[in-house]
Amino acid sequence: MDDVRTWQIPGRVNVVGEHLDYNGGPSLPCAIDRFLTVKARPREDGVVNAWSAGRKATFSTSVGPGDVDDWAAYVAGSVWAMAQAGHPSRGVDLVIESDLPVGAGLSSSAALTVGVVSALDELGGAGLDGTARALLAQRAENDFVGAPTGLMDQLAVVHGQEGHALLTEPLADPPSADPVAFDPTAAGLSLLVIATGADHSHAAGGYGQRREECERAATELGLDLLAHAGLDAMLTLEDETLKARLRHVITETARVRAAVRALRDQQWAQLGTILTASHESLRDDFQVSCAELDVAVEAATEAGALGARMTGGGFGGSAIALVPQSKAGPVRELVEHRFDALGWAAPTVFAVRPAAGATLVP
Ligand code: GLA
Repeated sequence: MDDVRTWQIPGRVNVVGEHLDYNGGPSLPCAIDRFLTVKARPREDGVVNAWSAGRKATFSTSVGPGDVDDWAAYVAGSVWAMAQAGHPSRGVDLVIESDLPVGAGLSSSAALTVGVVSALDELGGAGLDGTARALLAQRAENDFVGAPTGLMDQLAVVHGQEGHALLTEPLADPPSADPVAFDPTAAGLSLLVIATGADHSHAAGGYGQRREECERAATELGLDLLAHAGLDAMLTLEDETLKARLRHVITETARVRAAVRALRDQQWAQLGTILTASHESLRDDFQVSCAELDVAVEAATEAGALGARMTGGGFGGSAIALVPQSKAGPVRELVEHRFDALGWAAPTVFAVRPAAGATLVP
């Protein structure tokens, strides 16, 4: 068993800065203390075996897009992306375990692709740095799985640091991820995740449609990226939908900057206000929320959260709430009560802490 290497990769929540990564704007995610692990053992026969939750997938190291689907596509895509970058694998056995709920919008897919890329990099001696691994993990998801995501999640799960969020600028050259102190527990607060159980799927959902709308708005404005638009662009766009998308991008960018200032000044109430404003913008202007997320956010703020918002791509998945520790119980109870009253399955509510990024377990 000497030749087994174990990688531990966190999930992430995004504190604020949603749907900005592919628009050329900033985001403020943090890795969380819920993890996926990848155990990897090298082979020499050109075969990849992967086991996860009682399922097994087997394919060749020369796999290409379309050859593998479902959960194993994330594994195969990572093998393929490494090969495309000039780092072919000679074969590997992979055992994947996770306490990250799948489909909860906590980046279990980025954790999986980053884990496999990191394992292959280390076994094959490719010597990639963290950002290069994040980029290949994104390539697996974009070009193999077919989900047109940005780079925020991969940067967060690679570069996360305990007690910190990361100010990421994925389309900066090079992509950046700068730590910003973020330790709610030390301030007497809890960062709660409310996993609504509502469906969330990037490949099939409205994510791609939002992305296209943003690209269309940028083209109409003569820009490469929508986050480069100035305020005057609001006067130029005629289509009301595109205008609303732009309004979100402009105001959300300002909220990221304000959140970084609030964290530096330890202005937690201010941060809470920013979170809730972000939710309203995602609900009304960007239109990627859903009834379950809205109810979770309303109940959380009503029960004493400083602020709450949907996190991640939207259309389901999870909300986060920044809550004084004494209010964590009441927030959970009211959210559960509201879901129950609406006849919805109980949400899963748990506290998380900002955690370290992908690591090779000694
Ligand atoms: C998903 C994507 C990210 C980002 C968010 C929205 O999590 O994977 O790249 O676009 O949605 O901010």
